[in-house]
Amino acid sequence: MTLEVAKEAAGHRAVRFIEDDMIVGLGTGSTACYFIDALIEKCQQGLKIEAVASSEASASKARDGRIRVLDINAITQVDITVDGADEIDQQKRMIKGGGGAHTREKILAAASKEMIVVVDETKLVNSIGQTKLPVEILHYGSPITRNRIERQGYKGQWRLAKDGSIFLTDNGNPIFDIYFDFPPPFPEEDHERLLNTLGVIDTGFFFNLAGRVIIGHTDGRVTIQT
Ligand code: 5RP
Repeated sequence: MTLEVAKEAAGHRAVRFIEDDMIVGLGTGSTACYFIDALIEKCQQGLKIEAVASSEASASKARDGRIRVLDINAITQVDITVDGADEIDQQKRMIKGGGGAHTREKILAAASKEMIVVVDETKLVNSIGQTKLPVEILHYGSPITRNRIERQGYKGQWRLAKDGSIFLTDNGNPIFDIYFDFPPPFPEEDHERLLNTLGVIDTGFFFNLAGRVIIGHTDGRVTIQT
């Protein structure tokens, strides 16, 4: 069995929590895509919802499936957002932004009555900060901001697009991926420090946002943490 089985199982299970008349926040990434696939199917069977999307990719996938995607600036609250994560610990602290969409994802999650997290089992970690911490930086003056981050002792690199150019988010900004030598013992402090750095838009740390966590396993089983 592959990781795709686990992602698909988690993404598909989340659709059971979606009810008529909800405004549904669509996350970004491969696991969120499985959720969108299942949501499209459920809508074809009669479920009536509207969506808001955390990325152009998710919006376009939903529209292709004939789901009505609302303008984010036309709403003030979301019922449920379903989104993936790169790492999640036992306190449901997460790192997101592997797909470069964490700022929009956080805006949706924070506006939601519940954020349902859909992950494959490899995303469960003892301490977050094992891989990379994406930091979205305002395009204007981004080398200056990068300098300011590095002067605080953080090491990292610009995220690159497939063609080798600097990757830009849907907001038109670069991402500075920070790599820790070891998982930070107090990630909340790193988040605050980085967020207080002029030019930083947001980090990929997500605290106090996750509701139910749907974990897909490689044998196709699903477990849910409440
Ligand atoms: C995008 C994200 C994704 O949710 C995260 O990278 C997980 O992706 P995947 O489900 O493909 O493993 O934060 O910005």
